[in-house]
Amino acid sequence: MGIDYAAMPSPCFVLDEARLRANLELLADVQRASGAQVICALKGFAMRGSFPLVREYLPGVAASSLAEARLGHEEFGGEVHAYSPAYIPADFDDVAAVSTHVTFNSLSEFERFAPRLGSASAGLRINPEYAEVETDLYNPCVPGSRLGVIADKLEGGLPTGVEGLHFHTLCEKGSDTLERTVERVEARFGSLLDLVRWLNMGGGHAITREGYDVERLVGIVKGLRTRHPNLEQIILEPGSAVGWKTGELVSTVLDIVDNGGVRSAMLDVSFAAHMPDCLEMPYRPAVIGASSEGGEGHRYHLGGQTCLAGDFMADYVFAEPLKVGDRVVFLDMMHYTMVKTTTFNGVRLPSIAIWRERGELEVLTRFGYEDYKSRL
Ligand SMILES: Cc1ncc(COP(=O)(O)O)c(C=O)c1O
Repeated sequence: MGIDYAAMPSPCFVLDEARLRANLELLADVQRASGAQVICALKGFAMRGSFPLVREYLPGVAASSLAEARLGHEEFGGEVHAYSPAYIPADFDDVAAVSTHVTFNSLSEFERFAPRLGSASAGLRINPEYAEVETDLYNPCVPGSRLGVIADKLEGGLPTGVEGLHFHTLCEKGSDTLERTVERVEARFGSLLDLVRWLNMGGGHAITREGYDVERLVGIVKGLRTRHPNLEQIILEPGSAVGWKTGELVSTVLDIVDNGGVRSAMLDVSFAAHMPDCLEMPYRPAVIGASSEGGEGHRYHLGGQTCLAGDFMADYVFAEPLKVGDRVVFLDMMHYTMVKTTTFNGVRLPSIAIWRERGELEVLTRFGYEDYKSRL
């Protein structure tokens, strides 16, 4: 049964449980066929109401801060793989206490914190200086990048105690990109791969996107395990691929403004506050019942609720004219949205809901004034 958008509060992020399960089934297939572990990167997808379902399929999480590590440990369970570009000294003992794996961004961070690791396994993020990411904002391998240790710095080998290596260089990429990346990693760091117990190949694998070559991914993992039999664990930590196309952001038209021949549908959501990637990347989200590529019909700018002049998306064409009270539903709004929302301008955070497989809406969280006030 399809989601009843009229039945939910507005604005609202709504996850379709059935679609999430379909993604998780595919990720579980990858684990079974390749022997890799797929964990959920909380920076991209941290909808805690979905954790009981995600946990049925994925053995843990990737965390980039104490807050994420705690959420993983307390609400998800299983393995917690922490990596932060720089750890806060006062937080570190708590990070180590709730994490099974802790990856360091530099040799100096490893030296500083290794004595405080407890039972967590230490890893080092390497930077292969190769990435096929077109947008610099999302490219960890731009020259001079602060992310990861470059090969030159590891000519003397790995410090004693490093048990794993980690690289993250992909962003919504296919397994062909991973294949080329692994070639570079092996060319630059190959001998080091024989010295560690685990290899984490980061996120950015668009595994659940239509047309992704899963067979090739399985082959890459199996090849690595054959060439480096010492690798007990090969880990993938996608965020986007977990939440990919599993839910919507439902909004409502508050007003129609017509200025200089441009009609703007003013919405109760904001691109700046609720969908920042639309402005950062930038990309144009798909909207149910509208074309974002022109054509015949009723053309509107979709206007965000903040006063930021650029908080809008231009030129969406609807079959029918929009009117106050209509629902405007943005597709594919589960990853990098809830985790990035702000209360800029005091706009209300969207509620969070799940459309259950049995065809019922469950509203998990509603936000209000206290959420705005408590952050200030
Ligand atoms: C270190 C690391 N791991 C995993 C991810 C998740 O990537 P994605 O959500 O694109 O799969 C990111 C994203 O920035 C990352 O920086």
